[in-house]
Amino acid sequence: FPGAGTFVPESDDLRVLADAARSCRGCDLWEPAENTVFGAGTPSARMMLIGEQPGDQEDRRAQPFVGPAGALLNRALAQADIDRELTYVTNAVKHFTFTRSDRGPRRIHKKPLRSEVVACHPWLEAEIRAVDPSVVVLLGATAAQAMLGTSFRIGVDRGRVLELGEARAVATAHPSAVLRAPDDERDAAFDALVADLRVAASLLE
Ligand code: URA
Ligand code: SF4
Repeated sequence: FPGAGTFVPESDDLRVLADAARSCRGCDLWEPAENTVFGAGTPSARMMLIGEQPGDQEDRRAQPFVGPAGALLNRALAQADIDRELTYVTNAVKHFTFTRSDRGPRRIHKKPLRSEVVACHPWLEAEIRAVDPSVVVLLGATAAQAMLGTSFRIGVDRGRVLELGEARAVATAHPSAVLRAPDDERDAAFDALVADLRVAASLLE
């Protein structure tokens, strides 16, 4: 893939960036997707949250984290006393990728390839430049590795305060991983996500 680089305008205006991302052809994911899901939220947010990639609902509504994973994230943010309205929420990859179920029209989320994460990275860099957050929350391994390199392991370094250029970062589990946890582990997985979000929130004080 050529990557998103040549499609990213030299602008710190998120509306200009989001608009340009709609015609990105930096990798092959734009074609089957319905929408480009750019980040959303407060343009000058002090906290930025980065997920993996939009899901089915996000693709339909062109908004990040508005499906089941978003609902769980909202609950976790509320418990950690973080106002989502005051944050900026985005994803490492801006287009949904999926396979079709043999049994129907359901679109099943497919994890993005490393090459797609790399291709999309210039948009993420542009968003970080524009928002200039002081705290970045990395939701899951894809986001963490997009920012910190492929040797990063969530299981080892989640919840720790990390350096990310001028900002500080905290990596944690992806909300979808909490949703997928076995019944008897889900509450603990949720509480661990909240605990990591509290670490991130404490950096804003
Ligand atoms: N999962 C993500 O990583 N991002 C979304 O926007 C939705 C689900
Ligand atoms: Fe461009 Fe990213 Fe979409 Fe690929 S996923 S086409 S790099 S916006």
